[in-house]
Amino acid sequence: MSKYIVTGGNRGIGACIVEDIQTKDPAAQIIIISRQKPGDALTSKSDGITWVQADLSTQEGINATKNTFRGADVLINNAGIMIGKNPFDISDEERNLMVAINQNAVVELSLAFIAEHNKNKAKTITRRIINNASIAAQIGHPDMWYGMTKAAIVNLTKSIAKYHGADGIICNCVAPSTVSTDMMNMIPDERKKMMKAVAVTGRFAEPQEIAQTIVWLATQSPEYMNGACIDVNNTIYLR
Ligand SMILES: NC(=O)c1ccc[n+]([C@@H]2O[C@H](COP(=O)([O-])OP(=O)(O)OC[C@H]3O[C@@H](n4cnc5c(N)ncnc54)[C@H](OP(=O)(O)O)[C@@H]3O)[C@@H](O)[C@H]2O)c1
Repeated sequence: MSKYIVTGGNRGIGACIVEDIQTKDPAAQIIIISRQKPGDALTSKSDGITWVQADLSTQEGINATKNTFRGADVLINNAGIMIGKNPFDISDEERNLMVAINQNAVVELSLAFIAEHNKNKAKTITRRIINNASIAAQIGHPDMWYGMTKAAIVNLTKSIAKYHGADGIICNCVAPSTVSTDMMNMIPDERKKMMKAVAVTGRFAEPQEIAQTIVWLATQSPEYMNGACIDVNNTIYLR
């Protein structure tokens, strides 16, 4: 039985991650971290789901999340926000909130997860960290602070893999283009139009498509794949 921590697992991409884990690993123990309670439709599917209320913009919330790490096999850093303002209009408070949730919480939780892993001196077990970044990390974004936080966690992913891979940590991230979730409400219309026009299918991603990629990285991807950023962008950014 594997134990998964899914930040932002109550709705959007995170809820689809929880559902996909349940399908692929019915005995899974899943801890959902979020401010708002997940719906009964999600939690009633399995006895293995626990919700821990935590605000990842606060130290209290980060500590509550860290307290769930004992015996955990996988940390999925999925929670994130977008303010959706250009850097001239965003307030210091809004910018700091986004940096706290999208970047600082991901760093602190990842390091705590690694520290917990390293308590096992034998280091015979592998543990996985998957970060939900964004295509904004690669092609820029009108909300520059959003793009910068996402670029930071792509870089974090590489550093974790490089400096902790030998100890059994497998860390990869995904870089999705626009996904049909509540977050779309924060994306300027101009960018939405542009992103749809440049996708080869002419549509946004469904949250299940991102979740399936993340759950593959959490459960099945080969251990030799470490430090990768998987683009899920329908040809919008080919490299
Ligand atoms: N949608 C897109 O177009 C897109 C594209 C690329 C990458 N992403 C990334 O995918 C991830 C999930 O986004 P989504 O599209 O599923 O958006 P969403 O539907 O708005 O969900 C955001 C999730 O983050 C949680 N969250 C936000 N602030 C939090 C806080 N202070 N403490 C704890 N949890 C918090 C939310 O739960 P509560 O509000 O209950 O706390 C919710 O579960 C984000 O990191 C986002 O940047 C999204």
